[in-house]
Amino acid sequence: MDVEGMGSEDWEELQRNLTETIPVYDRINRFATLGQVSRWRRIVRDLLPEGKVLEVGCGPGSFAEEVVGKELVCLDPIPEMLTTAEKRVNQARKERGDPPAVFIQSTAEDMPFEDDSFDAICSLFSFRDWYDKKKGLSECLRVLKPNSPVIIVDPAKINRVHGILGVLWMRTWVGAYARIVCGQRNHPWKWLTKTYSEFGTTRDYVSMLKDLGFTDVRARVIFPGMATIWFARSP
Ligand SMILES: C[S@@+](CC[C@H](N)C(=O)[O-])C[C@H]1O[C@@H](n2cnc3c(N)ncnc32)[C@H](O)[C@@H]1O
Repeated sequence: MDVEGMGSEDWEELQRNLTETIPVYDRINRFATLGQVSRWRRIVRDLLPEGKVLEVGCGPGSFAEEVVGKELVCLDPIPEMLTTAEKRVNQARKERGDPPAVFIQSTAEDMPFEDDSFDAICSLFSFRDWYDKKKGLSECLRVLKPNSPVIIVDPAKINRVHGILGVLWMRTWVGAYARIVCGQRNHPWKWLTKTYSEFGTTRDYVSMLKDLGFTDVRARVIFPGMATIWFARSP
């Protein structure tokens, strides 16, 4: 596992662990982010343009549930995540009078969409898990319409010292809470620390986006150690 991705054994083990987080996902996420996660999700929602939006790595639908008034496609490789998300998201959309969202089982690295399909792509707390980040971003570029945004949120490090503090926070505080909530010493949230440790800095992914040909590339740390937001456009 490194800044650019991970091998297939690690990724498959990560997927097994992510599946186990489903019943406690929102609760632990709120705790791990000190309740800030709703605010970060709102920032992304406010940046989405009108039209057809793709969320890559939708997980159990925590972000997608509150995407209002847009045509929405949710992609995730884990069938259990998609089943949980579909129920929750489409119930909320039905109550609001939005058309149902579409749920697709696949990965960022291999998207089953035509070129120039989407007006925006977002990915929250998933980019860290992509096994080949360059390939996933190239796919985003391919399926985005021209001059359309990709918006990514994940906890990047500012520098090495900051990374060490972040790992301590995840391992001790969040890890202890997850152990209590999950009721098991070997709880699946251990993988959060692992992917966090190997994830790069804000600047690493600004460079990656620019190198792949995105324009208007910007990044902002919205909460040090917990959330950076990257914004870029297809040319
Ligand atoms: C932590 S959840 C994020 C859920 C949601 N987006 C949110 O805001 O809370 C990360 C999701 O990314 C998905 N994921 C992992 N590897 C992926 C890949 N290569 N391509 C797309 N999604 C991936 C996982 O299956 C998981 O459901």
